[in-house]
Amino acid sequence: MADLEARYRGIFGDDGPVRIVCGPGRVNLIGEHTDYNGGFVMPMALDVAVRLALVPRDEPATAGKPTVTLWSEQFDERAEFTLGDAEPPDAPHWLRYPMKVAEVLAQEGLGLRGFSAVLDGNVPIGSGLSSSAACEVASALAFLVAARPDVPAGPAGVAAEAHGLSTCRLAQLCQQAEHRVGVRGGIMDQFVSLHGRVGHAILLDCRDLSYQTMPLPTDEVEVIIIDSAVPRRLTEGAYNERRSQCEEGVGRLRKFDASIEQLRDVSLDLFEAHKAALPKTVRRRCRHVITENTRVLESAEAMKAGDLVRFGELLNASHDSLRDDYEVSRPELDLLVEIARGVKGVLGSRLTGAGFGGCTVTLARPEAVEPLREAVLARYEKETGLVPHIWVSEAAAGATIEV
Ligand code: GLA
Repeated sequence: MADLEARYRGIFGDDGPVRIVCGPGRVNLIGEHTDYNGGFVMPMALDVAVRLALVPRDEPATAGKPTVTLWSEQFDERAEFTLGDAEPPDAPHWLRYPMKVAEVLAQEGLGLRGFSAVLDGNVPIGSGLSSSAACEVASALAFLVAARPDVPAGPAGVAAEAHGLSTCRLAQLCQQAEHRVGVRGGIMDQFVSLHGRVGHAILLDCRDLSYQTMPLPTDEVEVIIIDSAVPRRLTEGAYNERRSQCEEGVGRLRKFDASIEQLRDVSLDLFEAHKAALPKTVRRRCRHVITENTRVLESAEAMKAGDLVRFGELLNASHDSLRDDYEVSRPELDLLVEIARGVKGVLGSRLTGAGFGGCTVTLARPEAVEPLREAVLARYEKETGLVPHIWVSEAAAGATIEV
């Protein structure tokens, strides 16, 4: 990314010390469509991120109606909103993320202050690597820093604490902003963007937000992300539909055990005993979520035991379940997974994120990375007409105030 401070000066002129905040994207290793069912996920933060370079406005935090002026590097566009005012009729879609973040932070009782900022990012948009969560988290940090310019550079937690917030609460607020934009997403993306740790995946219990950092043995295994170049379309409708189907499953299974609140509470035994009570599609959706939760916990055990082969098998099983039971894969993603699984030294491969397009994540021995790249380049474009993007990624730190 360009020198953001210089970009800021170029666009807004020289008016005061520039602060820079950063919210990373993420890749999910395992635990897909489990977060909104109160289950388990194991994502890691990436070294691609959304950044804002900002200068707070002069008016005091009590002025009431903070105005935020943004220049988007990616969209080459300037836009502005005033908190408390109706959405500007010509507001570009990207503006809705910081706007909704401002709304939820104000509702939480934070005294917000306006700012002007350059917004930049290198998280591929629409690839399932959570560019939207990265934008929400970075925007939230921008508001926290603008309202309290005394907050020093450092991890997001310092800025959150200065406002009496925990980073867990901040993740929830960013999730609420996502809901207001229109996708009823779970907590995973915002949580890992805030809590990521270098060299570690995060094992998160999405019900109580307790988590463990899981070291990735980088000398033994690489995490490879392959972008299918299939743009995700109609994601919102299909995603929200999956969520409703899970809720329907809960409603029906609760008749057999009143303590069931989410699919997280349904054991495989209870599901097997009563699955006939579920309509066929709902049954398959529930089976995915229930088995996926056990796969995440088993993956954590396998990682702790150093059994990466087993971890890889669980990744494969996750993909098959997403493809057959949850029906969120696409032929292009299945092809990438099939190619990867045919390469010696690949431990496992699956679609990552919501599905319907976007990326796969592959776990491979370091010596398998080049053969994997060659195998994908040899077949994928020829068979799909799409140009894949392949990169090896490392687990990065969570959101920070860089300057
Ligand atoms: C999207 C959502 C997440 C999660 C995944 C699927 O990324 O934002 O909350 O539900 O899909 O696992």
